[in-house]
Amino acid sequence: MLHHVSTGSFYDNFDIPWGNGRANIFESGQLLTCTLDKISGSGFQSKKEYLFGKIDMKMKLVAGNSAGTVTAYYLSSKGETWDEIDFEFLGNVTGQPYVLHTNVFTGGKGNREMQFYLWFDPTADSHTYTVLWTLLTSCNFLVDGIPIRMFKNNEAHGVACLKSQRMKIYSSIWEADDWATQGGRVKTDWTNAPFSAFYRSFNDVDCCSRASVWNWVTCNANSNSWMWTTLIPNQVGQMKWVQDDYMIYNYCTDYKRFPQGLPMECNLG
Ligand SMILES: *[C@@H]1O[C@H](CO)[C@@H](O)[C@H](O)[C@H]1NC(C)=O
Repeated sequence: MLHHVSTGSFYDNFDIPWGNGRANIFESGQLLTCTLDKISGSGFQSKKEYLFGKIDMKMKLVAGNSAGTVTAYYLSSKGETWDEIDFEFLGNVTGQPYVLHTNVFTGGKGNREMQFYLWFDPTADSHTYTVLWTLLTSCNFLVDGIPIRMFKNNEAHGVACLKSQRMKIYSSIWEADDWATQGGRVKTDWTNAPFSAFYRSFNDVDCCSRASVWNWVTCNANSNSWMWTTLIPNQVGQMKWVQDDYMIYNYCTDYKRFPQGLPMECNLG
């Protein structure tokens, strides 16, 4: 069977190569924590590689004064022309909003940042952050099931899309106080360390993890219809709501940054 679903024990699905004991799994594999202190951050990666899929992770971010910390959750392939789908959570001083920074790399090229505030406090409870990666819509970023960003397959117009390189899931927490919070003006207060992010309820649906790169056509032909899904009208409305009310940066409207013209996909809608 090509279609595989796992509801995940962190033990079964992830390795912890970074942080020298600062990332740990608890509750029989149902909870993972990553911590950051002055000496080091920490992180984990999936054992599996994915080629299309829907991956949900519940995360609760560093509470209190998290200024200067970045918690990244992303999919990435390897090599110089790698693909990547990024969620990065930029911390803030107590009571000020986190920023959710997103980016998409194709063939080693990114520069597709979109940033959002969230409509809830991401440090108070766990919320579900989803990458929905299909052939038709390439990648979608969802928060609690609400799409916030879609990077379409615009291959027909010469825009590289994510369709042939397998990616692993990664997450890590590190210190980036030179840029992360209020443009780098607010530094990390190490008296609050260690900083902890919490992960639960990992869930994946992967279509093609075991197929070879050359097999993706076969894989698509056999896969469920969600491979071809696009947003339903209700979700289009939701995405518009988020982008109208919570988006604080969009590379596609940054004319100053791209004096020679916006990236191709920005003109394709
Ligand atoms: C932190 O709070 C300030 C003030 O509300 C805000 O301008 C900024 O976007 C927030 N987030 C980050 C990551 O700086």
